[in-house]
Amino acid sequence: MLQRMADEGDRRRGYIEPADGRLGVLMPGLGAVATTMIAGVMAVRKNLARPIGSLSQMGSIRLGKRTENRVPRIRDFVPLAALEDLAFGGWDVYGDNVYEAARNARVLDPALLDAVKPELEAIQPMTAVFDRSYVSNLDGGHVKKAMGKDALVRAVMDDIARFREENGCSRIVMVWCASTEKYIERSAVHETLEAFEQGLRDDDPAIPPSMIYACAAIRMGIPFVNGAPNLTCDIPALIELARDTSTPIGGKDFKTGQTLMKTILAPGLQARALGIKGWFSSNILGNRDGFVLDHPDNFRTKEVSKLSVLKDILRPDQNPELYGDLCHKVSINYYPPHGDNKESWDNIDIFGWLGYPMQIKINFLCRDSILAAPVVLDLALFIDLARRAGMSGIQEWLSFYFKSPQTAPGLRPEHDIFKQLVKLQNTLRHMMGEDLITHLGLDYYQDLVEAL
Ligand SMILES: NC(=O)c1ccc[n+]([C@@H]2O[C@H](COP(=O)([O-])OP(=O)(O)OC[C@H]3O[C@@H](n4cnc5c(N)ncnc54)[C@H](O)[C@@H]3O)[C@@H](O)[C@H]2O)c1
Repeated sequence: MLQRMADEGDRRRGYIEPADGRLGVLMPGLGAVATTMIAGVMAVRKNLARPIGSLSQMGSIRLGKRTENRVPRIRDFVPLAALEDLAFGGWDVYGDNVYEAARNARVLDPALLDAVKPELEAIQPMTAVFDRSYVSNLDGGHVKKAMGKDALVRAVMDDIARFREENGCSRIVMVWCASTEKYIERSAVHETLEAFEQGLRDDDPAIPPSMIYACAAIRMGIPFVNGAPNLTCDIPALIELARDTSTPIGGKDFKTGQTLMKTILAPGLQARALGIKGWFSSNILGNRDGFVLDHPDNFRTKEVSKLSVLKDILRPDQNPELYGDLCHKVSINYYPPHGDNKESWDNIDIFGWLGYPMQIKINFLCRDSILAAPVVLDLALFIDLARRAGMSGIQEWLSFYFKSPQTAPGLRPEHDIFKQLVKLQNTLRHMMGEDLITHLGLDYYQDLVEAL
């Protein structure tokens, strides 16, 4: 019977190119998050540590009915690139190699970094596409010389081609791990590919560096993921380009720390029809990301991303009695003594039966890059899988990893982490020709009861 089900699965399963050869993972921004991910993968390869927090490496997935007891590891179920086959590279406005950058980021123990030092030292950043008018708190000099935006796209494409050649990669993905750019509203230059390409030729200020990297990748059919809240590939022009080149894309803003907690807790409170009057969130953070976000233009980009979460989960428009008066505030304070160890406080004013008020307090002492590193790894592996499975355009099934998930035009993003997980797992089941799981179970409960 199991064999019959497996044969049927094979028939339903679409074609997925095998993960043969090396996968290049290129990251604009080799700062705290990127270097923590790279050093972590090197350490895991040497069996010095475990990839905790990575769903692709540590997570399991139930297949079929509960009675079948089939729960493989995700990495054994879908054909992902092996960690041994990853080659890392990237760009940064500072010339430090990945070992030096990881030491400066002060996230991982020096002893662990020293254990993988030669591998990390070998990764030198390529010169960045950078313009201080988008990130005024940074002033690194490891940048491409002044040229038009159109030429910069071509320069990044040349970098990618060279990296692919030098590292013998059969496939490449790109994940934006660079600083949050200043807030930019969507405007006419973003609306069509034609307008965007003209904008590149005209050096339009509404095209920041992140869009230049994204454009270069997508033109080459290289999957692109945006880990920061910048617009980047969340504009019609680049969605159109992704369609033309059959490229999977996704974003925005890695879901870690406080927002992760929000998307775990808010769906639970909502599920029990408890009301929420206010949610006050504050953070202190002392790493370079915190320094960049200390500038109001860059914080605005982050704030918009962070604020969208609760409204989308709680739907005050549909539940005015429970959430109509919701007051949601978010602040980030740059506080150097804490480094990458972000501390967040949440005060949540809720109300229950007959309107009686209650409070929840959360004090999360987290490590920002420790939470973000596995997210970068998973996104790189899954977006590569998506491409090999012939999927292109916005990969909504990866919303699980984002604070502000990019969706098809007109669709509301799904923020509830549990719904996001169901969607991700069902997408994997679908790719592999397995039954989707609805958690209904009525179809086999009766058989089970009768068999007892
Ligand atoms: N750590 C988290 O939990 C988390 C969560 C969500 C989003 N993010 C986002 O991820 C990004 C990286 O975070 P981080 O903590 O590693 O920050 P970081 O400041 O340590 O690293 C970012 C790096 O990007 C470089 N950079 C800036 N502009 C660049 C450009 N145009 N081209 C190439 N390099 C450029 C900077 O020099 C820096 O080294 C930030 O945008 C952050 O907001 C982080």
